[in-house]
Amino acid sequence: MADESHIPYVDTILTTIAAAAKVRGTGIAKRNPEYVKQKMREGKAVIALYGEEFAGFSYIETWGGKAYVTTSGLIVADKFRGLGLAKRIKHVTFTLARLRWPKAKIFSLTSGAAVMKLNTEHGYIPVTFAQLTDDESFWKGCEGCINHDVLVRTDRRYCVCTGMLFDPERERSVRDADEELAKDPAVLDIIKRRFPDGFPD
Ligand SMILES: CC(C)(COP(=O)(O)OP(=O)(O)OC[C@H]1O[C@@H](n2cnc3c(N)ncnc32)[C@H](O)[C@@H]1OP(=O)(O)O)[C@@H](O)C(=O)NCCC(=O)NCCS
Repeated sequence: MADESHIPYVDTILTTIAAAAKVRGTGIAKRNPEYVKQKMREGKAVIALYGEEFAGFSYIETWGGKAYVTTSGLIVADKFRGLGLAKRIKHVTFTLARLRWPKAKIFSLTSGAAVMKLNTEHGYIPVTFAQLTDDESFWKGCEGCINHDVLVRTDRRYCVCTGMLFDPERERSVRDADEELAKDPAVLDIIKRRFPDGFPD
């Protein structure tokens, strides 16, 4: 779990995310360094390091008065890909979101095959955009994407990304998520170390 001490990595994180988006030919939600630093301070970010070398990152965001949560900005540096690192990072952000806001729906808007696979393993199901948050600040993040015109043209009903949702009230999803957690229970220790006295409001 990232904290204040990881702030020096923010530039590397944002440069790595921007470079990966360029390679994929996708647009990407605009991320401001201050915003990412704040996520680290608030215990809403996860960083993977190999010694002092940056290896991977992601963070969580809440929307619509904490009724919805997303895990965002997942990135693994080139040389650390294919080792299961994204899976572990996603596992920590997803479990953190579930523990911290147990009633919130957790969703994902992605065009990435790896992310769709990880989401599915954790009990997300594909949904239409109408089932995602209507929080304007979430959708504003799409403005930096090359496909934004599609979203505007369809009145925010359809776009290139797939919407996926984890609903804590859907029993089968909860079972899938719990099964994943049972495979890597150390994820709970990682979270507890950052919040030994429980979560702030
Ligand atoms: C996507 C990304 C985070 C994956 O990181 P990674 O550490 O290599 O992923 P993992 O090794 O944990 O793999 C997780 C699963 O996804 C699969 N996967 C990984 N990359 C994939 C790809 N490009 N296409 C399809 N599946 C992929 C893996 O096979 C694995 O499934 P398995 O457990 O059944 O083998 C990394 O490639 C990356 O940073 N890409 C650029 C940024 C990006 O696309 N972020 C997602 C934004 S939506």
